Amino acid sequence: TTLDGHPGHADHGTGDPAGPAATVGVDDLVAPAGPADVVRTLTARAERVEIAPGRVIDAYTVDGTTPGPTLHATQGDLVEVTLVNESVPDGATLHWHGVDVPNGADGVAGVTQDAVPRGGSHTYRFVAADAGTYWYHSHQVSHEQVRRGLFGALVVAPTPGTTAAGGPEVARLLDGAVDVPAVVHRYGSQRTVQGVVGDLPVEAAPGRAARVRVINTDDAVLPVWVSGAAFRLLAIDGTDVHGPPEVEDAAVVVPAGGRADLLVVAPLDGTAARVELGGAGAVVVGPAGADATLTRRPATTLDPLTYGAPAPLGLDPADVARSFDYVIGRAPGFLDGRPGMHWTVNGHTYPDVPMFEVAEGEVVRMRIANRSGVPHPMHLHGHHVLVMSRDGEAASGSPWWTDSLEVGDGETYDVAFVADNPGIWMDHCHNLPHAAEGLVAHLAYE
Ligand code: C2O
Ligand code: CU
Repeated sequence: TTLDGHPGHADHGTGDPAGPAATVGVDDLVAPAGPADVVRTLTARAERVEIAPGRVIDAYTVDGTTPGPTLHATQGDLVEVTLVNESVPDGATLHWHGVDVPNGADGVAGVTQDAVPRGGSHTYRFVAADAGTYWYHSHQVSHEQVRRGLFGALVVAPTPGTTAAGGPEVARLLDGAVDVPAVVHRYGSQRTVQGVVGDLPVEAAPGRAARVRVINTDDAVLPVWVSGAAFRLLAIDGTDVHGPPEVEDAAVVVPAGGRADLLVVAPLDGTAARVELGGAGAVVVGPAGADATLTRRPATTLDPLTYGAPAPLGLDPADVARSFDYVIGRAPGFLDGRPGMHWTVNGHTYPDVPMFEVAEGEVVRMRIANRSGVPHPMHLHGHHVLVMSRDGEAASGSPWWTDSLEVGDGETYDVAFVADNPGIWMDHCHNLPHAAEGLVAHLAYE
C-alpha cells in the first residue's frame, strides 16, 4: 500500500515503486497561520449508494454523498478543511484540483503527505486566491477512488466589485444570475449530473441568466453544447475568458479534470435552454416544467486558441528562462515488475522520469508533444499554464490559462508558466488509469 508514506512514493495507484528521490520540507510551504474564513470538516466513507432507483453501487462518499458537498469561498479567503477518513480502506487524501495551493496542502499521497488511514484525519489550509470553478478529489489510488466518487466541487466567488473579464454586457447578465455547479461523473456505465441520473432542472424566469459550472470528473473528454439558446464560454479551468462572444452551434470540449463555465439565458419565449452534457443529461435552465428540443452535438468545436478577446497575457514570453520538452510516447517496459506497453515521458516511464527542475521566479516554457497514439489530458499541479501555440499556430484569442489541457495524438502545445509556487508538483495525465500506467512526471524547485 502507499500508507507507509515513504517520501517519493507518488500515488500512481499500482503499488510502491521507488519514486522521486527527494521530498520537500512541507513546513515551509504551508498557508499563513491565523483564523480561517471557511472552516469545514469532510468525512470520507466507503459505502453503498443508490444512484438511481434500484441501482446501488459500491462508492466512496464525502459527508454521505457523491459528489460530496460543494464548498463555497470568496476570493482571498483562507480555507481550512479537515478530512476525516472514517472507512476508506486504502486511505484517502484531498487534492484541490486547479487551486494553486501551497505544496504542503496539495494532497498527493506519498509526495506531500501520507494517505490518511482509516480513523485518521488531516487538515488542509490554503488561500483561495483566484475566483473560479475547481474541484477536490482524493489523490490516493486516484484512478479507483475518483471513479468511485471521492470528490466534490469548490466554487470561489470573486471579491465583490471585481471587474468581470467578460465585459459590461456579461457583468449585467451575471448580476442576479443563477449559479449552478454541475459535476459530471460516470459511475460504472451510469452517467450522472450532480449525482443524479437524468436532467438537472434549474428554475429561471425568461431572460434570467445562469452560470453553469461544468466539472468533468471522468477519464474521457466531455463534449458540452447548448440546445435552445446561444451561450458564452465564461471561464476555462476557473480563469475568466476576456470578451467571450456569443456562440451558437458549437461544442465545448471539457478535458478530464477540466472545467468550463457557460453563461446561458432562459429564452424569452418561455422555453428552456439545455446545457447538454455529453448527450447523457443536461442542465435545463428555464421556467418550471419548460424544456427545449434536444439537439445533437454540433459539428463545430469551439477553439479556445482563438476564442474571446486578446488581453494582457499575465506573463512575458520574452522572459522565458528555461524550456522543457514533455514528449509523450508508448514503449515496452516494466511497471511494478510487470512487462507490457507503457506510457513514456521523454522515453522514460514513471518513476524513472527525470524531474523537471525550475528556479523560483522563472518563466518556464514547456513543449508538450503527444506521439503515443491516443489523447492525454495533461494536468500540472500548483500552477496554471498559458497556452502559447498549438502545432505552431499562435494563440490569438483571450489568454488561455489552463490546468487540464487535452493534447490530442500528434499534437504539440507550447505552454508557459511562472514558477511561483515552490515544492514538488505532479504533472500527469488525468485519464487516471494512464497515470497509474506511468504517465507521470514531477516538477521540482532547485
Ligand atoms: Cu486532479 Cu493529480 O489530479
Ligand atoms: Cu493519458
